[in-house]
Amino acid sequence: MGLLSSAFLGLFAVLVAVLAPTVIHLIRVGGPFLTPNPTVLGAGQGPIVIEDTIHCEDVHHYRPADLLFTACEDLKATRFDWFPGLGHLDTKAAGRGSIHVVDPKVCDLFYNATRGAYYTVWSGGILTSSILYSQTFKSTRLTFENFESGFVTHGIDVIEDPERADAVYIFAINHLPNPEYSPSAPTSAPKARSQIELFHHILRSTTVQHVRSIRHELIQTPNDITADSPSSFYVTNDHYYRAGLLRLIEDLWPFAKWSNIIHVQLHELQAEHATSALTASVAHAGLWNNNGLGHARHPAELIISSAMGGELYLATRDENNTLSVHTTIPFDTTTDNPSYYVDPFASDVHDASGLVVAGISQAVYMPQTMHDPDAVDALQVWYAKPTRGGTGWETRLLFEDDGTRIRTGSAAVLVPVEPERVEGVKKAWLFVTGFLSENMIAVQVEL
Ligand SMILES: *[C@@H]1O[C@H](CO)[C@@H](O)[C@H](O)[C@H]1NC(C)=O
Repeated sequence: MGLLSSAFLGLFAVLVAVLAPTVIHLIRVGGPFLTPNPTVLGAGQGPIVIEDTIHCEDVHHYRPADLLFTACEDLKATRFDWFPGLGHLDTKAAGRGSIHVVDPKVCDLFYNATRGAYYTVWSGGILTSSILYSQTFKSTRLTFENFESGFVTHGIDVIEDPERADAVYIFAINHLPNPEYSPSAPTSAPKARSQIELFHHILRSTTVQHVRSIRHELIQTPNDITADSPSSFYVTNDHYYRAGLLRLIEDLWPFAKWSNIIHVQLHELQAEHATSALTASVAHAGLWNNNGLGHARHPAELIISSAMGGELYLATRDENNTLSVHTTIPFDTTTDNPSYYVDPFASDVHDASGLVVAGISQAVYMPQTMHDPDAVDALQVWYAKPTRGGTGWETRLLFEDDGTRIRTGSAAVLVPVEPERVEGVKKAWLFVTGFLSENMIAVQVEL
């Protein structure tokens, strides 16, 4: 063997050694060898199917009011032809979805004999009758006020209105077709012109008011949003390319770290034009396929997911609004929109607070199934907590399905169950939603 070929072999060996962990992790995330193992649920653990939640990609638990918010496509067919998030770009198919509120409470009435009155209990425990199901876990579509536009939904965020505690601001991605695109000159303009809608909602009302639209050239392929005030938010661009071979390379090649996160500052909440009274800047670049964004343990910390990378990152917000990643937590599936569960019943002995993230477990089949309204896609929902001592993170599978009870998984939130109602064991309702699922579901899990 010549000097050159042994040098080449050596280099090859080094390459294999360096790349092997990446390749092994990628194979796990892609799931070609995975056999889905659907979680077996006991009596009273669900699944409870939330009616009228078609293709709701994201869900948030707004704790002050104990309500879930989600944005849904509302029709089964449209997303398979128009959904820029999946590279589906038939502009004629763009639909009009809506914002929904889901009540996660089981409203039992308890009679207090001493006081001679009935009291409601704010959160669910052991379900004793099927009537409870029909009274709660219901989705209500909010009626738009002053918003006539098309609405193709993706990630959202919900934050309190700092000026009135009984209201929220809702940020929502809207993947609109580009009015400047012309089929006769297909290369002149991109097909999608995605923007962000800002809405205002009075809690417990059935309407939502449009505040303004937000569009900026730095926001190209928006996926998810995290807001820290009505005028300041972060948004991920999940890809650099909207279509074609280069987008495929972005999906498959871990070193194609071309996605970024944009920070947007609104100078006026009400603005006549989507592009006026705002500034935008790159808050982070260089992650592979950054996708979901969520609030973490304190206001200056965010969770970012790398969808194809199967990783969550914890990042700190700097004074100048850039994000510095300080922790990486790997998972065995793709990772979509992350949430952070705050255990309201935390004690010194047991604090169940942690990260929750859903992902598809057989991403390898997605290129075919994403065109088929009747296909199934397996998913897993993960939970991560700091290890004792606090140096690392331990991850645990919370729920798994083969795609028949829920299809795809893109967001999951935990809603606590009062401990005394489940004999001191820490339990929660896990609400899971999927970007291609015809329904959101709720299952009860132990933490
Ligand atoms: C923003 O702040 C961080 C941390 O202090 C610093 O590393 C970074 O260079 C700053 N970026 C800009 C664009 O000023």
